[in-house]
Amino acid sequence: MALDLSSLQGTADRYATKSPQEILGLALTEYSPSVGIAFSGAEDVVLIDMAVKLAVPFTVFCLDTGRLHPDTYQFIEKVRTHYGIVVDTVAPQADAVQRLVREKGLFSFYQDGHSECCGIRKVEPLTRALAPLGAWVTGQRKDQSPGTRAHVPVVQLDRTFSTPERPLVKFNPLSQWTSKQVWDYIETYDVPFNALHTRGFVSIGCEPCTRATTPNQHERAGRWWWEEATKKECGLHVGENTHDR
Ligand code: ADX
Ligand code: SF4
Repeated sequence: MALDLSSLQGTADRYATKSPQEILGLALTEYSPSVGIAFSGAEDVVLIDMAVKLAVPFTVFCLDTGRLHPDTYQFIEKVRTHYGIVVDTVAPQADAVQRLVREKGLFSFYQDGHSECCGIRKVEPLTRALAPLGAWVTGQRKDQSPGTRAHVPVVQLDRTFSTPERPLVKFNPLSQWTSKQVWDYIETYDVPFNALHTRGFVSIGCEPCTRATTPNQHERAGRWWWEEATKKECGLHVGENTHDR
């Protein structure tokens, strides 16, 4: 089955106030097994935990940029073994990485912004990860970024990664949840989390582009801190979040 794309907006409106489990349930019912959870952070493991409990086949992929924190690799392994699931780690194209590093070194993003490196290490691999899928599921929340995520719907057509032959639907089941609700769920159900969270990290991306924040800072203040707040998106979601505003 698959959702009727002509009434997707209506579906998003109807599901906007439903629980993450109901939204995820819709994703799995309509697209299993051709549905992938994009996994990198705390929110995504909450979704994996819910999906395991729904007992419908799904896939999990992680974009392994090659620049993740050592703790993040430990975390990915912890999630894999805890749930007994396959986590597809998707690597960037070796020749594109090699070319970038040869021309500009390993830290060019501090000089000319993160979009080129993110394009090579995240966006192109994501295009490959999504190619076989009918739908994907992300852990985006509206309150993660008032500037770029305030309008994230619970389900949307992914116009950035759809192709003319293959429409791709994107589910954001935690869109309405707060960080506190995510962490309450993690505590209640003993969900594995990245050890960096115990050292002041909140939103976690690649090692050179993430740092710990203080309690009074916004959660994305530790991401690409040398760039403007409105640019703190790496291309996985920015197209959609701009279209829907
Ligand atoms: S980012 O665009 O700024 O990097 P963020 O870290 O907030 O994204 O994560 C939002 C959602 O994007 C996550 O919940 C996850 O679904 C997806 N995502 C982000 N980074 C990755 C990654 N490396 N691998 C897989 N999914 C990812
Ligand atoms: Fe490169 Fe930083 Fe983007 Fe990771 S977050 S892909 S290291 S620019």
